Amino acid sequence: MIKYRITFADENRSLQVEAGKTVLQTQIDAGLTPDAFCGGKGKCGKCKVVIDGKEVLACQTVIDRDMTVYTGQQKTEQAQILAEGSQAQLAFLPGDLPGDLDNPLLGAVDIGSTSVVAYLMDGKTGELLGTRSALNPQRQFGADVVNRCSYALTNGAEILSGCIRNTINTLFRELARELGRVSEEIVRIVMVGNSCMHHLFLEISTKNLALAPYTPEVTEALELRAADYDLHVHPWAQLWWLPNIGGFVGADTVGCLVASDLDTCEEMTLLVDIGTNGELVLGNRDGIISCSTAAGPAFEGAKITCGMRGSVGAIDHISLENGEFRIHVIGDGEATGICGSGLLDGAACLLKAGKIDETGRMEETCYFTDRVYLNQRDIRELQLAKAAIAAGIQILCQRKGIRPADIQRVLIAGAFGNYLDPASACAIGMLPPELAGKITSVGNAAGEGARMAALNRGQFERSKVLAEKAEFVELALDPDFQDVYVDEMEFPEEYA
Ligand code: FES
Repeated sequence: MIKYRITFADENRSLQVEAGKTVLQTQIDAGLTPDAFCGGKGKCGKCKVVIDGKEVLACQTVIDRDMTVYTGQQKTEQAQILAEGSQAQLAFLPGDLPGDLDNPLLGAVDIGSTSVVAYLMDGKTGELLGTRSALNPQRQFGADVVNRCSYALTNGAEILSGCIRNTINTLFRELARELGRVSEEIVRIVMVGNSCMHHLFLEISTKNLALAPYTPEVTEALELRAADYDLHVHPWAQLWWLPNIGGFVGADTVGCLVASDLDTCEEMTLLVDIGTNGELVLGNRDGIISCSTAAGPAFEGAKITCGMRGSVGAIDHISLENGEFRIHVIGDGEATGICGSGLLDGAACLLKAGKIDETGRMEETCYFTDRVYLNQRDIRELQLAKAAIAAGIQILCQRKGIRPADIQRVLIAGAFGNYLDPASACAIGMLPPELAGKITSVGNAAGEGARMAALNRGQFERSKVLAEKAEFVELALDPDFQDVYVDEMEFPEEYA
């Protein structure tokens, strides 16, 4: 077997690799967790590296000689990850805890498609002791849930479950160490994540999640032993998963519901959680309905020519002042790309400036800096993504027999929701323009729901009732969805 020496210059790593492997696979094997939004199919262009002074796609470059590879990854790793919830007061009624520790610890985890957040709490007082986050290492196998489900089906789920379990172990080990404790003192962990993250963590087959109508294999809440899932915690520690609702509307959405008051409030409320998928819940004390929209990972930077995650170097905000674009760059340095909130602002500014019309037609590529721009293809990708969310909202309203204007408040959960400008979301029609002024960000509500369930057994029980109560609408099966989706591709006329 011929082997070559591959050197990753930015990471200061060098290894012998069999000829014929791709550079991307070598990065994965070396534990470098590269971005591979399309799962290595050569379509997304996000796995670019520099070899011999030329930019190439790592997934399409086969190793046939000694190589020095520049990934540029060090700069982009510092992603903004949202851990904070709405800071609601949490009642501490944990119920029986396993083990006989005098000072046990409790954990909660939100596994997002892009990032993972772990929380550590005092098992005697309920106090939040620390929060830590990391990028989800599964992103090297695809940015969106369908790509990851397919990867698991083709190559086995162990690699995906193994890497996420390792990340969670690392987060808890570091959190405990900072407090002079050890993760083996954790006696309960409550987890949330969308149905795909749930199945991949638990190594449940994703066969039915990879194809319409995307039915999860398991929806009920689970009470398991953490030790059975390779978690380095107390040997008797409990592992609880909040229930899934249906489709990709999973335990993370149930976590959002636990942390909000949708099931008891009078006001008609829309809860929006936009990540690589968009989960929508509409309702009040008289009933709750939910759906998942294939918003796609455009808001995470995939499929957008200069797109990138919300990390250092990303343009995250754009405004139009006296006909000039004003940009804000995360980290205040040079702009290297544009993230989801910047994309929304950019499109809203281009609409206001008359540089795109209501059909999305653009006369020319528009530059925000010398190297960061939006072109016609990017605007089309944005239209697909925003239309998926807007159409989901329309269908939920139809099912409820209300108009979007009847929605009294909008809660936006998740990192993207936290950073986006609601005015831009309304200007491009991702959210109905009539909802401008009713929008509040609730931070990482999914993680907060997991934390509440860890601290209060009653909240875990409540999660089961909420999941039962929330009706699931599979948009792919709705006869009106396709027409509404096509209509929602256009931008609102008042801005165009
Ligand atoms: S183009 Fe290489 S991972 Fe998408």
